[in-house]
Amino acid sequence: MPATVLAVLNPKGGSGKSTLATNLARALQLTGRNVLVVDADPQGTARDWRQTAGDDVDLPPVFGVDRPTLEKDIPKVASAFDVVVIDGAAKAAPMSVSAVKAADVVLIPVQPSAADLWAASDLVDIVTARRSVTEGSPRAAFVVSRQIPGTRLAAGIQEVLDGYGLPVLEARTSQRVAYAEALAAGLSVIDHEPDGKAADEIRAVLAEIEPLLTA
Ligand SMILES: Nc1ncnc2c1ncn2[C@@H]1O[C@H](COP(=O)(O)OP(=O)(O)OP(=O)(O)O)[C@@H](O)[C@H]1O
Ligand SMILES: [Mg+2]
Repeated sequence: MPATVLAVLNPKGGSGKSTLATNLARALQLTGRNVLVVDADPQGTARDWRQTAGDDVDLPPVFGVDRPTLEKDIPKVASAFDVVVIDGAAKAAPMSVSAVKAADVVLIPVQPSAADLWAASDLVDIVTARRSVTEGSPRAAFVVSRQIPGTRLAAGIQEVLDGYGLPVLEARTSQRVAYAEALAAGLSVIDHEPDGKAADEIRAVLAEIEPLLTA
């Protein structure tokens, strides 16, 4: 069985792609899966994260791909893994197209702000166009990212996202120091603070996308 490919994409910088990708990769590894992270961003956040962790730490390997050739590159290594998680690049439309072609599942982290929603609409078009020629692949969903609980923006985003024609996960990530601390330390929030709220959020996102990964 080739790996299931999960791409975390949004052309908007800082929407939380690398944070979600690295944490989900580790959470998937903790379920016993053999996981590879593909860092599709020339900034190399996921590569830096893995390097910070060091060789002795039990984290998924990270492989950098800087050219929009993911749909060719990933199948070459996919038989060795159960899941490949792509950490997408900001802007870089060709890389997003390539990642959408390579992916079985696309997760789109969106911060609850108008600018972030507008920036995601081109990606939604790319996903929708791809689905129309592949009988529904990749499966795709929004995940609200970096919300500030209790704010009007956090409360209103679901309704706005509903207008974009893709499902929205119930699980969300909130703005929490633990995410930034874990990324900087080369850890996941599950390793950093297993009983913390950020770890709970990542476990909830994973539980909700499990059916998409195995469909
Ligand atoms: N839920 C969160 N709570 C607190 N800080 C966060 C959260 N998500 C991300 N951050 C921080 O915000 C910054 C940007 O996040 P991240 O690198 O995940 O975004 P990105 O979408 O990958 O950005 P880019 O488009 O530049 O690749 C990082 O410093 C990260 O630690
Ligand atoms: Mg990133």
